[in-house]
Amino acid sequence: MPTVPPERTPLPEREPHQYRQMAESFGADAERYDRTRPRYPDALVERIVAASPGPEILDVGCGTGIEARQFQAAGGKVLGVEPDARMADFARRSGVEVEVATFEAWDAAGRKFDAVIAGTAWHWVDPVAGAAKAARVLRPGGRLAPFHHVFQTPPEVTEALARAYRRVAPDSPFNLGAQPTRSALEGYQRLFAKIADGIRAVGGFSEPEQWRFEWERSYTRDEWLEQMPTFGNLTQLAPDKLAEVLAGVGAAIDAMGGSLMIGYNTVAVTAARIGTA
Ligand SMILES: C[S@@+](CC[C@H](N)C(=O)[O-])C[C@H]1O[C@@H](n2cnc3c(N)ncnc32)[C@H](O)[C@@H]1O
Repeated sequence: MPTVPPERTPLPEREPHQYRQMAESFGADAERYDRTRPRYPDALVERIVAASPGPEILDVGCGTGIEARQFQAAGGKVLGVEPDARMADFARRSGVEVEVATFEAWDAAGRKFDAVIAGTAWHWVDPVAGAAKAARVLRPGGRLAPFHHVFQTPPEVTEALARAYRRVAPDSPFNLGAQPTRSALEGYQRLFAKIADGIRAVGGFSEPEQWRFEWERSYTRDEWLEQMPTFGNLTQLAPDKLAEVLAGVGAAIDAMGGSLMIGYNTVAVTAARIGTA
């Protein structure tokens, strides 16, 4: 999930993309990541494909290839760019072509694309440098569409995570220990505004729009605890601290009857490349 704390105070001193160690930590357990992270809504994939002038798609921060495979299944020809070689290896084994680099440093070598997408990864990219690079590699009419899963846990689980995280990582800049004051979706508007501002700052794009897809999924206790270690703010916890966090959240889920419903909003901030080159 995105490691963005906008609904919490105090805010970290730096933007998420400046925490490079965390940004490139997901490959610590690529198998678990691919097994447990949710797929993207088919309606989102279809809408981006329909709004792009051709099938060539660049997937920024493709990770293990989750959305890349979905876009392939929808007829896309996908190239991934991914800085974590462990994630890239997994994606390649699953049939996705990947080049290992951050998007900012990646050499496009003159190639052009019909869409630049990013699945829950654009918050790890400099929003202005990223939009500028996308503008250079998109054909006229090509679509920039970074999208993020935003999930909302039940309050009991949110509070249990906050309590445990405050105990094990009191100094974390990603202050999960602070109580959220707004819904996750409201909290993420700060990130979405930054993405849109980056696109506007670069110019050469239509006015950014938000496309939102709402869905929900039920998890058993074990399914949720299996996914949690893939969250950016937990990937770097020592095993004993991670175990403490999982125990706290697990107890809260047990008290709710052993399963929980997670509400998801998957939101794309998207704009079309205008101009002739
Ligand atoms: C939360 S994961 C998302 C992976 C995949 N897109 C998905 O939705 O399952 C974020 C990914 O962004 C990658 N990443 C981090 N910084 C990046 C950058 N500057 N450019 C491109 N990718 C980056 C990470 O290595 C990681 O694989």
